[in-house]
Amino acid sequence: MTKSLVTGGAGFIGSHLVETCLAHGHEVIVLDNLSTGKKENLPAGQTGLQFVEGDITDRQILHQIAGAHPDIDYVFHLAALVSVPQAMAEPARAHAVNFDGTLLLMETFRGSALKKFIFASSSAVYGDTKTVPVPETAATQPVSTYGADKLMAEHYLRIYNDAFNLPFVACRFFNVFGERQDPSSPYSGVISIFFDRALACRNGEREPLVIYGDGQQTRDFIYVGDVANALVFLAESGAVRGTVFNLGYGKQTTVAELARKIMKLVGVDCDVEFQEPRAGDIRYSAADISQLHTTQFAFAYSLDQGLQLLWRCLKGM
Ligand code: NAD
Ligand code: UD1
Repeated sequence: MTKSLVTGGAGFIGSHLVETCLAHGHEVIVLDNLSTGKKENLPAGQTGLQFVEGDITDRQILHQIAGAHPDIDYVFHLAALVSVPQAMAEPARAHAVNFDGTLLLMETFRGSALKKFIFASSSAVYGDTKTVPVPETAATQPVSTYGADKLMAEHYLRIYNDAFNLPFVACRFFNVFGERQDPSSPYSGVISIFFDRALACRNGEREPLVIYGDGQQTRDFIYVGDVANALVFLAESGAVRGTVFNLGYGKQTTVAELARKIMKLVGVDCDVEFQEPRAGDIRYSAADISQLHTTQFAFAYSLDQGLQLLWRCLKGM
């Protein structure tokens, strides 16, 4: 039986990945310190799923897991301090998790029979690139400590791949959205915030939907179900190794258009307030996904389908 370790498995993307791994017949061990993740995100009482509450920076826990499970096939490494503003406010703390934690995990599996180490990287490695859509070969110039740590981890993965025979795949996620994304922080994903506001508006609250800037900035929004499918596909593809992939749909949507789509789905016409652009906001962002197209992977969803699935879930809550 295939065995997978998912760090950050109780988080937004991680919990979807756990479901996909289980659906593929994997036995799954989740390692999560529940700093932003929740145990309730994981399927309860599921056979083949083991939850370990612990920190990726804790050497002892990593050795315990690797010792108890010498037959782990895949490590999906998603645990991270994901807030960019927080990583800027506390660079050393973020570095300890996002880089040192990743290195400890690689080191734990050096010399093991691991088939692949799959790393959740970010489009933040590019910084404010002028190349849109941006290919993986574009210059990387992160503008945040978060992006710099993700990029440094990619470099180490390549070195562990080449020098120590630890196969890896790194996926640079663009803007991921879907069920279980937490809208409660001002830095939450824009889709979760817009749905939250549109629902409040539907309930008669007058709080406006805020657009920072003129709303013409673009993002490449990708539904979490496709991210989870891609991660498992790339893990299980024997031929794919030592490669970095962009993970987006390759399509740009303006924030204003997104607001219209969400209000239409929810059936409301909320007040929209335009505020000053956010400091450091990237103007245009989209993935060049030619590299992903060299594999047999096919997306199962689209932005509109993902928005509909998310809306169906929110309606039922
Ligand atoms: P999330 O906060 O929901 O998930 C992160 C998980 O990691 C949480 O469950 C948290 O409790 C856990 N965690 C954090 N620090 C830990 C530690 N030291 N030890 C053990 N567990 C720890 O965020 P997410 O959006 O699901 O992000 C998952 C991954 O995807 C992250 O690596 C993030 O950098 C990357 N990513 C996300 C996006 C996006 O659009 N959401 C974009 C680019 C990259
Ligand atoms: C995203 C990631 C970040 C990553 C970056 C670079 C999330 C939550 N953040 O940031 O980790 O480093 O990509 O690739 O996925 N907006 C509004 N109104 C709101 C909220 C946001 O207009 O209420 C705008 C923002 O100003 C921005 C756009 O919507 O222009 C997207 O914002 P957000 O979802 O926070 O993601 P990014 O800033 O792209």
